[in-house]
Amino acid sequence: MLSYQHGYHAGGPADIHKHFALAGVLSLLTRKPRPITYMESHAGRGVYNLGGEQARKTGEWKAGIGKAERRDHPFWTAIDATRARYGATAYPGSPAVARALLRPQDRMVLMELHPTENAELREAMAGEVVEIHKRDGCEGLLALSPPDPRRGLVLIDPSYERKDDYDEIGDFAVKLAQKWPQAAIMIWYPILKAARHERLARALSSASPLRHEVRFPPHGGREGGMTGSGLLILNAPFGSEKVMA
Ligand SMILES: C[S@@+](CC[C@H](N)C(=O)[O-])C[C@H]1O[C@@H](n2cnc3c(N)ncnc32)[C@H](O)[C@@H]1O
Repeated sequence: MLSYQHGYHAGGPADIHKHFALAGVLSLLTRKPRPITYMESHAGRGVYNLGGEQARKTGEWKAGIGKAERRDHPFWTAIDATRARYGATAYPGSPAVARALLRPQDRMVLMELHPTENAELREAMAGEVVEIHKRDGCEGLLALSPPDPRRGLVLIDPSYERKDDYDEIGDFAVKLAQKWPQAAIMIWYPILKAARHERLARALSSASPLRHEVRFPPHGGREGGMTGSGLLILNAPFGSEKVMA
């Protein structure tokens, strides 16, 4: 199902949680000069316009990036780079957050299945060294794993439009960790009243992931109203707990 459009939610509280975490963990992994591979299964369009129709319709960014502080955090490197390149109302999606923090020796591989989002992603990443695929993110990542270089980070950030997504993402993450054991695997999930994310957490519990959640008032937009945002990090790099705190 490809009806989800992240433009309505870009820069909202859940994005802030996910993107601050992504920037923090990437900054841990890029401390040593050894190269890494960064991969995403559900990349989105890369850059969002908070002045555009979708963002204006929900206004979710006002409770997210509109209130974000901690300008000493590596996430602001991505904000500054994105605004400098795309304009003052631009907001970095996860590919742009990663692009701002990765170094020339690192590799970046992105999957985005939606034709329009994929085309926008290609445009947003024009001139950058990045491999962009229009294929199913889970199938693509498993097919390309383990990549070279083996050190690396995966972001799994689906739209959870179907109930079964939680089970399927759990199975996928387990398989990915088996194929690419050196990878840190970061999985985002929404916290909804139905609490389906608990199934996902149970499926991954034997890998003892780092789990981090934030709660916020329901702001509508997604099914049932999201009351929080969660992350599970498998094989979290040393220092991740401090970064998440
Ligand atoms: C939550 S959004 C991604 C947001 C992005 N990671 C960010 O933080 O900026 C989920 C994306 O997954 C895409 N998508 C949906 N099904 C997919 C699939 N099977 N494979 C790859 N991408 C898919 C959607 O088109 C959407 O752009």
